[in-house]
Amino acid sequence: MSEAGYERYIKLLKNHFASCGKKPKAAVVTYGCQQNISDSEIIKGMLDAAGYGFCDDYEKADLVVFNTCAVREHAEMRVYGNIGALKPIKRARPDLKIAVCGCMMQQEHVQKQIKEKYRHVDMVFGPSLVSRFPEMLYKSIEHGQKSFDRSEIPEIIEGMPVRRAENGKAWVTVMYGCNNFCTYCIVPYVRGRERSRKAEDIVNEARSLVKDGFKDITLLGQNVNSYGKDLAGGCDFADLLRELNGIEGDFWLRFVTSHPKDCTHKLLDTMAECDKVCRQLHLPFQSGSDRVLDAMNRRYTAEKYVSLIDYAKEKMPDIALTSDVIVGFPGETEAEFEKTVELVKRVEFDNLFTFIYSKREGTPAAVMADPVTDEQKQRRFDRLLEVIHPISRKKNERLLNKTVKVFVEGTSKTDKNVLTGKTEGGKTVDFKGESSLIGGFAFVKITECKTWSLAGETV
Ligand code: SAH
Ligand code: SF4
Ligand code: F3S
Repeated sequence: MSEAGYERYIKLLKNHFASCGKKPKAAVVTYGCQQNISDSEIIKGMLDAAGYGFCDDYEKADLVVFNTCAVREHAEMRVYGNIGALKPIKRARPDLKIAVCGCMMQQEHVQKQIKEKYRHVDMVFGPSLVSRFPEMLYKSIEHGQKSFDRSEIPEIIEGMPVRRAENGKAWVTVMYGCNNFCTYCIVPYVRGRERSRKAEDIVNEARSLVKDGFKDITLLGQNVNSYGKDLAGGCDFADLLRELNGIEGDFWLRFVTSHPKDCTHKLLDTMAECDKVCRQLHLPFQSGSDRVLDAMNRRYTAEKYVSLIDYAKEKMPDIALTSDVIVGFPGETEAEFEKTVELVKRVEFDNLFTFIYSKREGTPAAVMADPVTDEQKQRRFDRLLEVIHPISRKKNERLLNKTVKVFVEGTSKTDKNVLTGKTEGGKTVDFKGESSLIGGFAFVKITECKTWSLAGETV
């Protein structure tokens, strides 16, 4: 089948539902990172084109899709639990179709487990097979055929339909896969090698998003700083940012994720010079100990990391800095953990995403000696939160009484009368305002600071 074959199967599905006069409903549930959120938007785009409507209630759905994540054990356990919970629903309604996709499903042992123990699942496939989903779905509906597919399509398929959120926020993938093989991480095994989209395709997509009124565009990739290395033409990530910055209109550009070994002064200079690029850098450091960084195969030192951050602060004094960190990597000593604490205090991050090391089958770290107990790891985790809380709060307090530009994302989860948005630095701001502001920018005076968010009033 040609890779654009999804169009044919979307048509077949559409005809099928038209001929039986049915408006089917799908529940699409997404776990994991923005990459998965973006893939789910394509899955929903294809379902929408095939005639599906959407719902959250599994009892009312004709199709349930779980788009899964494999990055930590906890994420995988939740998925198994949720697939198991569908069993009685499928028993009562055998016409219900169940598809499970995403990173977790690219692993051989997982597909085997689903095949043997979760026999009510109809379709299982990895992240590179999104374009084949309409075919699997059609064959399941029409012929009762089950699909378990782990093949990888390295080609980038452009132009698939996308059903984006309606709040003016858009994800744009610039590259797929990862070549870094950090020793703890499963991502390179489940998302394949680095593949960059052509700059022209990215710019065209961004231009049409801006034209359609999208205001907050986030560029996605596991390691965006190595964008373009696999393309002829010499366009690197900084060049791409500059080109996107040239698109006319009032919008913000952000990007995740950067890797310290590939984050260049050229990129930081470009950020500083481009007015639409948010002054926000998410630069995972993982550990403050050079011994641990080496064992993680991160290929930079704590000193190199700190000097990059110093350069970024020098060029953009108001930059918001966030990072990922792992505690309890196999063999991490107390003294090595203290190096992580030291680095956090030195850099003063605005926010930190802290993870306890989770063993991933098939990665090099999974066979490393790990004498540290779970209790010790938990203590280190708690300690790190104690360190970062006052730092985050202090950095938020710098915005007190200032008027900031906020992209309005929607209403607050806890209070429907309150709007919620993000600053350029990615900080959450709650404030009272008209719902017509959603999807656009507002200017808000900050009147209150909490550890993880801000509150204010429109001006
Ligand atoms: N490509 C991105 C994101 C990778 S996954 C990057 O390199 O930053 C997001 C975060 O999950 C990682 O930064 C890391 O901190 C964490 N992570 C990945 N594998 C993990 C594991 N096995 N155990 C605990 N945390 C992990
Ligand atoms: Fe995983 Fe490292 Fe690649 Fe990030 S850069 S996805 S942590 S292997
Ligand atoms: Fe999870 Fe895959 Fe993202 S493993 S973190 S959903 S790339």
